[in-house]
Amino acid sequence: MQAEDDQVHFTSAELLSDVDYAEPLIAGEVRCHGGFDADGKYIPPRTRVRNPAVAAWQAQLLHQGGQLLEIGDAQVPPQYPSVAQSKLLLQNGVREPIVRALTVISILEGFGAIIRDVRMPDLKALLVEDFDGTALSHLDKGLFEAHARDEAGYRDQGGHKQMWEAARDLALENPRVPPDVFMRLMGNRGQSRRGEPLFPQLDKNLYRMLMTMSQVLVIEVFARGTFDWGVELLSDPEVSAAPEAAGTMVEYIRADESPHVEYLRTALSEFRQKTVRTEDGKTLPGRTIVDGILHHILGQMGKNRPREQRDDALVALKQAVDKGQAQRSLLEDFEALTPIWQPPAQTGFEPSAA
Ligand SMILES: [Fe+2]
Ligand SMILES: [Fe+2]
Repeated sequence: MQAEDDQVHFTSAELLSDVDYAEPLIAGEVRCHGGFDADGKYIPPRTRVRNPAVAAWQAQLLHQGGQLLEIGDAQVPPQYPSVAQSKLLLQNGVREPIVRALTVISILEGFGAIIRDVRMPDLKALLVEDFDGTALSHLDKGLFEAHARDEAGYRDQGGHKQMWEAARDLALENPRVPPDVFMRLMGNRGQSRRGEPLFPQLDKNLYRMLMTMSQVLVIEVFARGTFDWGVELLSDPEVSAAPEAAGTMVEYIRADESPHVEYLRTALSEFRQKTVRTEDGKTLPGRTIVDGILHHILGQMGKNRPREQRDDALVALKQAVDKGQAQRSLLEDFEALTPIWQPPAQTGFEPSAA
């Protein structure tokens, strides 16, 4: 059943349902989600009802006088190493930093599945206003689950984790994957996770859910830079062994991300319109909470992510130099190509703007 214009209630099964594909997507040897219509056009997974549903909730929000929050392109940091830096390394036979960067992306995609482990707060008790028939009321009724399946795969179908691995293995011809990628990544993430809650007066499950949704939204938006990088680099016949297949694989993943950004920003925008009961018996505008969280996360990730990516690439390149696999002059040429980027002074979610 297709969503009608005024329909705003859906079952989980509907939100998880696929269009009828003429042909499945195969990445390497793995059957992946999504597929192609009769004209060969790629259609992202689980979008038969999910896309029209999110569009209907967005229209409803705007109709009720709400706004859709937007994270501007200016907030999106460049990917390190840049395309020029990556090409320089690959053309000099230094593959490990790029293999490492692509593997980190595939692991982070797989982490997206944590969204299904969110413990739902009792929104009925916590929100003053009604929220029936919204994205918020469908988070645990298909939206989180569809997102988790898209990122990490489901049953016999690969998801983004497997699709990035396939793109890497096609372009770089099944490179050796450094065994410490996962451990280094966990180390970095562990350090950036501490701190006092921004809103200690909020119900703990509600706070954790909003933090997770906001972090994932920012990761999804920042991924724009990663996708542009991946498409450009892996489609380049000078450095990619499979420019056509590897480049289009990244384009398919990029197409799948749009529903994630859209449902998350819709639900958070709906939340901004609500009034929230706090544990000290008072209330807070949802807008104060969402904007406060997004401002904090954008400030942190805009600083940390480029630094972590730069550090990762440099460590790998220095190791290659130490092992005699690369000339020291390559390191200098590499550093000279480092993109200069500073996060903008404003995140667009400043508390004073509320
Ligand atoms: Fe993804
Ligand atoms: Fe995603």
